[in-house]
Amino acid sequence: AYVVTENCIKCKFQDCVEVCPVDCFYEGENFLVINPDECIDCGVCEPECPAEAIFPDSDPKTADWTETNRKFASIWPNITKKGDAPADAQDWNGKPGKASMLSD
Ligand code: SF4
Ligand code: F3S
Repeated sequence: AYVVTENCIKCKFQDCVEVCPVDCFYEGENFLVINPDECIDCGVCEPECPAEAIFPDSDPKTADWTETNRKFASIWPNITKKGDAPADAQDWNGKPGKASMLSD
């Protein structure tokens, strides 16, 4: 499965949701997650993310993020259409230390 990682936080560009063939993205206030149990590993969302926040869960960069994706996918609503990114999304792109800013 593919999962969403730290750099999505406060960027939330949402380009990823438009391309997913199985609609397995779920939306929180400032972050999106993939349901790793619904993802079919097609890989099309990965290059669409302007924040380069999506990785296959085999990548060491994903570390604990797979469980975070699974947890919130069971709580948050499904999202299939791109909404507006936060006005300051680009300011947060690439900023370190965003993990603690995830709104649950
Ligand atoms: Fe959806 Fe494919 Fe991305 Fe999985 S890899 S979340 S199925 S677009
Ligand atoms: Fe987040 Fe990238 Fe999607 S910033 S909302 S994973 S396009």
